[in-house]
Amino acid sequence: MKKITIIAMLLVVTAFSLNAQDNLTVPERHNLTIYGTMSLEDAEEISESHPDEIEILATSDDEAAVHMSEEATHLVHDLRGTHGPSYLYASNAIDAIKQIRHERVERAQQMNFSITEGESVENALQVISQSNIEDQIEELESYGTRYHTTAAARRAGVDLKAKWETMAATYGRDDVSVRLVDHSNASGGRTNMYSVIMTIKGAELPDEYVIIGGHLDSTSNNNNTAPGGDDDASGISVITEATRSLFEIGFVPKRTIEVMAYAAEEVGLFGSKDIANRYGRNNVNVVAVGQFDMSNFKSSSRDIYFVNDSNAIDPTLTGFFQDLLDEYHGPNSGDTITYSTTQCGYGCSDHRYWFENGYRTAFPFESSFRDFQNNNVIYHRTNDLMRNVPGGNANHSFKFAKLAVEYLIEVSKKSTTLSAPEFSQEGYELYVINNNLKYKSQSSSSPIKSLKVYDVTGKRVYRENGLGNAGSVSLNKFSAGAYVINIILENKKELSKKVILN
Ligand code: BES
Ligand code: ZN
Repeated sequence: MKKITIIAMLLVVTAFSLNAQDNLTVPERHNLTIYGTMSLEDAEEISESHPDEIEILATSDDEAAVHMSEEATHLVHDLRGTHGPSYLYASNAIDAIKQIRHERVERAQQMNFSITEGESVENALQVISQSNIEDQIEELESYGTRYHTTAAARRAGVDLKAKWETMAATYGRDDVSVRLVDHSNASGGRTNMYSVIMTIKGAELPDEYVIIGGHLDSTSNNNNTAPGGDDDASGISVITEATRSLFEIGFVPKRTIEVMAYAAEEVGLFGSKDIANRYGRNNVNVVAVGQFDMSNFKSSSRDIYFVNDSNAIDPTLTGFFQDLLDEYHGPNSGDTITYSTTQCGYGCSDHRYWFENGYRTAFPFESSFRDFQNNNVIYHRTNDLMRNVPGGNANHSFKFAKLAVEYLIEVSKKSTTLSAPEFSQEGYELYVINNNLKYKSQSSSSPIKSLKVYDVTGKRVYRENGLGNAGSVSLNKFSAGAYVINIILENKKELSKKVILN
């Protein structure tokens, strides 16, 4: 009995001393609650001045994965002032270490970009409007600071969804849907703010995605008011107006287009990281991602500067953006837009996690990075308002909206199937959306006498008489393939169009 007690006591003592030793070599530091990455320079500086606030877990050439205290996150902000990456949040040590490795998912890229849609592009350029961009920039400024935790930022997402839905409905588009993305449980950074995604379903290649985006929040620090007129109301307004112009010309894409307003970019790319990681995990076939973050403060000699950091930007897509400017805005075009390249030096915006998920990214920016640093005095500040950019209007953003339109049209390509709401010379509109054939007469005096559907062999598979002036016919009963729709009007005019049903 005695022996056993002694052995037990010895065991307890040994266990205790082992624990004590562990505690000596790896002191548990309860103040270190946050994982993240930052520049190696910043991490070393904090580690020297405040050794208790940070632990460097791993380093790469110029970045460090760290375990740090709340205090350290403020210190790194102070070091950086308002510019540059402060730190990027990571959910655990492994993710932090992965993050500094910039490991890119490998993905086969088959798409060749080409310029073939001159007619649609010219039509869209005729209807795109600078004043719409100005109105929306001011609308977004009026929320005050769109810091990701605020009610204003959350409301901005809800309101943008409504705005996009109204826009699609105005042009009768039932191939368009808008959704809010909830990031309240995202593993790589949580926010109560929503991302907003508008989807224009591709009529022929619906599984291929062309993405355009910008961010909806305006600052990384709730203590500084920042209405984000340039950063990034200018980007959200550019992508909205580019899309509206597509609707106005009745453009229906072959490929699916998604327009994205990302949540919580400023605090570590939370929204775009969550979305890009989800698309990546599901192997969504995203053929291109265009990022529009800051487009309205011109402070360099050229108009557009393409960010070309090799660890976040795809040179092929960037080259294609430049080809678009050469084609549509060259020196003899009458609407010249000049460009050059620049570098952020870090994954400074929402393109980053798209790139890391293996997708092609391009990022046209408002000036060179150096001129931005020297001249854009409103960035992340109380006076980030359109009235404080050179010219006080959206003249600079307007150029980016044109590029956005060219990008969306030339990568998604106009569908050649009958699907655009387009009035024929006879004064009839005839198109297919979601397998419904829609028809509408411009004048009530000439209703439809008969509607016939023929298959590829010329066999009539359907006929209906006396359809009136407007309505729709479900085509669900037909199997996938090509058909010709023929309508004859009461005034004897005849109209035939080819449709492809998916
Ligand atoms: N719009 C900026 C990024 C930017 C600034 C791009 C200057 C190009 C030139 C963006 O909203 C931002 O502020 N990003 C953070 C980094 C991000 C990873 C949290 C930054 O640059 O501090
Ligand atoms: Zn920004």
